[in-house]
Amino acid sequence: MTTTPSTPVRTLGTGPGLPVSALGLGCMGMSGMYGDSDRAESLATVHAALEAGITLLDTGDFYGMGHNELLIGEALRSLSADLRERTLISVKFGALRDVDGAFLGYDGRPAAVRNFAAYSLQRLGTDHIDIYRIARVDPDVPIEETVGAIADLVRAGHVRHIGLSEVGPGTIRRAAATAPITDLQIEYSLISRGIEDEILPVCRELGIGVTAYGVLSRGLISGHWQPDRPLGTRDFRGATPRFRGDNLRHNLGLVEQLRALAGERGCSVAQLAIAWVLARGEDIVPLVGARTRKRLSEALGALDVTLDDGDLAAIEAAVPPGAAAGERYPESQMAHLDSEKKSS
Ligand SMILES: NC(=O)c1ccc[n+]([C@@H]2O[C@H](COP(=O)([O-])OP(=O)(O)OC[C@H]3O[C@@H](n4cnc5c(N)ncnc54)[C@H](OP(=O)(O)O)[C@@H]3O)[C@@H](O)[C@H]2O)c1
Repeated sequence: MTTTPSTPVRTLGTGPGLPVSALGLGCMGMSGMYGDSDRAESLATVHAALEAGITLLDTGDFYGMGHNELLIGEALRSLSADLRERTLISVKFGALRDVDGAFLGYDGRPAAVRNFAAYSLQRLGTDHIDIYRIARVDPDVPIEETVGAIADLVRAGHVRHIGLSEVGPGTIRRAAATAPITDLQIEYSLISRGIEDEILPVCRELGIGVTAYGVLSRGLISGHWQPDRPLGTRDFRGATPRFRGDNLRHNLGLVEQLRALAGERGCSVAQLAIAWVLARGEDIVPLVGARTRKRLSEALGALDVTLDDGDLAAIEAAVPPGAAAGERYPESQMAHLDSEKKSS
């Protein structure tokens, strides 16, 4: 396992800023979204990440309907006091699911926010959440009300910072006018560059950091994806346009271009893709979705990859903006993305 006791730190937001490790660990894949995962290996991966210097864990109360928070809670219980003190938990809430796991919509009403937070604190076994955010905007509740409810939780000491997830420029401005926003969590990778034109500039103008997810496009551009990999019904990727048919063939062709560049630079494809996001700005913190120690070790290696202007130009030429085939979410889920709405 790569140990990086001096893991670099980046600061999310400016008002007030939150220093975090330059890479965060996203724990979603440990609770069903990508099919089955191994509980013991998940716990070992969380511990290995924290021991290697990662300080930010990202979860959602709806990942495995509480499973992910309980898993993290278990991992936290066996940490040394010092490691626990350094560990920051980012939680998303608001998604409603049924017993079969189907997504039913989003609830951002203030009473619901208080209720979601109470259950999360219980499952995590902690007295506060470091960053709290609604996963998707509730179309029936103004963002000011949802963010205002989180601000009440901050004043009560149950939450430390307010975040946003997958929202566009208009919503970012309205939220920031309501309370200080620490970060926006949003998909950003070599093949998902939608934030560059408007969203990232607004975040920079308002002093809001970015926690980037899907930096490996859920494994698609990791260099490990096999075109014939079976995807069970419980693996979200099976329904994602980029992983299907001709789109998949095209997208894996892009990965081969990246593989050649990575080889020349002595790193893996995944490390090149993570290092590219790291190089996009000190205000961006990639969340890597490793769910095994092996994948984590590879991801941490990206911190040692420095890309100069020539490297960035070569990567850009191989995979220019818009190069991917297929949307990043199934159509039904694209409709919930405020970040994809032109008027938001
Ligand atoms: N705000 C939002 O709307 C939102 C949405 C999605 C995710 N997130 C958060 O962001 C986190 C990361 O997102 P993501 O899962 O899409 O991330 P990702 O890092 O793009 O993809 C993770 C998947 O890539 C594969 N992989 C291959 N090599 C890897 C390596 N070296 N390191 C890590 N993964 C490697 C793994 O798949 P296999 O394990 O199958 O090999 C892993 O499950 C999530 O855990 C969640 O906390 C937020």
